[in-house]
Amino acid sequence: MNIHSMEKIVIRGGKPLVGEIETSGMKNAALPIIFGCLLVKDRCVIENLPDIDDVDVSLTILEDMGAKVERLDRTTYAIDATNVRGGCSSLALVRKLRASYYLLGAEIGRYGKAYVGSPGGCDFGCRPIDQHIKGFEALGCTVRMDGSYVEAVAHNGLKGTNIFFDLVSVGATMNVMLAAVCAPGVTVIENAAREPHIVDLANFLNTCGGQISGAGTDTIKIKGVDSLHGCTYAIIPDMIEAGTYMIAAAATKGHLKITNVIPRHLESITAKLCEMGVSVVEGDDFVEVFLEKPLTGVNVKTMPYPGFPTDMQPQMAVLMCLASGRSNLHESVFDNRFRYTEELIRMGALIKVDGKRALIEGTPSLRPARVRAVDLRAGAAMVLAGLATEGETEIDNIQLIERGYDDLVGKLRGCGADIRKENAV
Ligand code: UD1
Repeated sequence: MNIHSMEKIVIRGGKPLVGEIETSGMKNAALPIIFGCLLVKDRCVIENLPDIDDVDVSLTILEDMGAKVERLDRTTYAIDATNVRGGCSSLALVRKLRASYYLLGAEIGRYGKAYVGSPGGCDFGCRPIDQHIKGFEALGCTVRMDGSYVEAVAHNGLKGTNIFFDLVSVGATMNVMLAAVCAPGVTVIENAAREPHIVDLANFLNTCGGQISGAGTDTIKIKGVDSLHGCTYAIIPDMIEAGTYMIAAAATKGHLKITNVIPRHLESITAKLCEMGVSVVEGDDFVEVFLEKPLTGVNVKTMPYPGFPTDMQPQMAVLMCLASGRSNLHESVFDNRFRYTEELIRMGALIKVDGKRALIEGTPSLRPARVRAVDLRAGAAMVLAGLATEGETEIDNIQLIERGYDDLVGKLRGCGADIRKENAV
């Protein structure tokens, strides 16, 4: 695992980015699939894994539990969880990730019980897991919070059932899929999340012999199977990473071809960029992004898929700062996802936050400053702001960015960006 305790990113911006960037595998599909390997008493080969810290941490958690993890090449790992022990994951590692909540579903699915530290992850205000727990209880578990641990036990075994979520939750939907794929009977999840990574997890589990249908709609049906077998599976491309580079092209008035994408997954992002005046040309598995006219402000409200993703909200804010006129940004998924705006304001951005809404007045240019990444996507937004701004921008706390972006600095440099990592003092 990389250790970069005190590094910063330094960008001399104001140069148009021109060239090609290849999208890596999707973080938020890779993590549940890695934890999903715990359900399989066999060898799974997972391809197109992004080379990011969150993947390293997840694989280390599995190794610590007794799984055999073998790196076959930069993006391919073999994971064999035949001999894992449940209930022994490291609290320190689990705390590093939001996605470690998938250990709950995976341990419940494998052992009928789970004992896992409370998850960490980005701080966007309160992030409860009540819907996950509601799902586990419906499947027959008794769930208890024990200090910093969550314990779930299905005393009489798991049993398929109907679950209606009170709200649309990506994590709860995937966690119930993991817990239920081998639960006797039929489980139906209603008001399920519809993100492409939900479909990816279903496809992975089905390739292992699971019987899950309806993923990608709001009703998912899971027929419990006796056991899962090993498989080879490739993770889908990361729509958030691709979307971030789409904005990099527009914010620097450059021209980027972003390859290895599924353009359908990018539709909500593409539509908003076009509304702002950005040119987006879609191919079968690439998008080209460039500017032919000035950027204009727009209104964006984040929503569960197929709406505009909350994980693109900070990056979009940067483009709005550079567009002429006023933009409204409404965060409807998380309570507190505007902390990064203070950093952009230090760069001269005109932003007023009122609860879950931000009003952004465009300005012709930002000014360089020393800013910090307050969370993963906010950190990416700082990089975009730095790329668009003449002079030297320094970004601290970059370990948060490296949790989720595979070779960000290398990919941007390949398109002409003057960007480097340095030791921060
Ligand atoms: C996942 C992603 C995150 C993304 C988010 C929304 C991972 C590791 N993280 O987070 O990058 O921003 O989806 O696309 O994949 N909620 C509850 N109770 C619950 C669960 C959720 O109230 O039991 C609320 C949350 O606080 C939030 C909303 O529901 O306000 C949506 O959360 P959810 O879709 O579960 O997001 P995460 O799985 O945490």
